[in-house]
Amino acid sequence: MESNLNIPKPKDLRVADPAAHAGIVIKGVSRNFGSKMVLDQCDLLVNKGETLVIIGRSGEGKSVLLKSIVRLLEVDEGQIWIEGTEINGLQKGPLMQLRKKFGFLFQGAALFDSMTICKNIGLMLEEHSGWSQERIRERACECLAMVGLHEIEDKLPSALSGGMKKRAGLARAIVMQPEYILYDEPTTGLDPITGDAINDLIIKGKRELGVTSVVVTHDMPSAFKIADRIAMLNGGKIVFTGTVDEVRSTDHPMVRQFIEGISQGPLETF
Ligand SMILES: Nc1ncnc2c1ncn2[C@@H]1O[C@H](COP(=O)(O)OP(=O)(O)O)[C@@H](O)[C@H]1O
Ligand SMILES: [Mg+2]
Repeated sequence: MESNLNIPKPKDLRVADPAAHAGIVIKGVSRNFGSKMVLDQCDLLVNKGETLVIIGRSGEGKSVLLKSIVRLLEVDEGQIWIEGTEINGLQKGPLMQLRKKFGFLFQGAALFDSMTICKNIGLMLEEHSGWSQERIRERACECLAMVGLHEIEDKLPSALSGGMKKRAGLARAIVMQPEYILYDEPTTGLDPITGDAINDLIIKGKRELGVTSVVVTHDMPSAFKIADRIAMLNGGKIVFTGTVDEVRSTDHPMVRQFIEGISQGPLETF
C-alpha cells in the first residue's frame, strides 16, 4: 500500500554495512499471508542498548515483524542481521545459539496452561542448562521475584490474573539472561498501575542489565515513558522514526493522527 501523501521517508533506517552493526538491521523485508502483503520492503534499525518502540494500528504487522526478528516466522524477501549475522541463511544449530540471546514476551503471555508457573519459566533452562531441578526452581523463583511475584511458582497460569500472567511471561523472557528482549504489547489489557509497573521493569532491564529492547505497543503513555526511539509501522513499512521529543513535536500526519487517537486523517478507518 503506497501512501499518496507527500510524506518524507525516514532517513535513519539503513546503515552502510549491516554486517558491522552492533544490534539488529532489518532490510527490505516483505511477508505475505495469502494475497495480503503484511510487510512490504520494511527497513528498521535497532541499536545495541536502546529501547525501540514500534507503534502502529492493529493488524499492521507489528507481531509479524517482531517474530521475524528471531525467525519464528520466515520472511518472503529481505534480510535481517543480528550483530552482523544474517539469520535467514542460518542452519538450525547456529539459529538456536543466536536465539539464546533473546527473550520474548508474547502477546497474551503465551504460558502453557497445563504447566505450573515454575515449569513454564524453567523450560529453557531444562532444555539448555543441564542444571538440577532445584537450581532451575531457584532461578525461576529469582526471576519471579524480579517481576514482583512471590509464592505463585506452583500455581497453574489459570490461577493468575492478566497482570500476573504478563509478569510471569516477563519472568520467562528474562530467565536466560538475554541481551535482547522482544515485547509484544506488554501493557495491553492491564490496568494503568500494573501497566506502569511493567514499564518500570522494562526501564530497569535497560539501566541495570544493559538489555536491548524492541517493544510493540499502541499504549502511547507507555511508549513515551520507555522509548529511546519510536518507529511507526504503516502499510508494511516503517514510515517514521524519532526520539520521544521528535514524536511529540512531529507534524507527520500519520504519527499525529495515531498519537492523538483521531479517526479522521490519513490512516483510514473502516
Ligand atoms: N500466521 C498467520 N497466518 C495468516 N495470517 C497472519 C498470520 N499472522 C499474521 N497474519 C496476518 O497478518 C496481519 C498482521 O498481523 P499482526 O502482525 O498480528 O498485526 P499487529 O500485531 O500489528 O496487530 C493480519 O492481517 C493478520 O491476519
Ligand atoms: Mg500483534
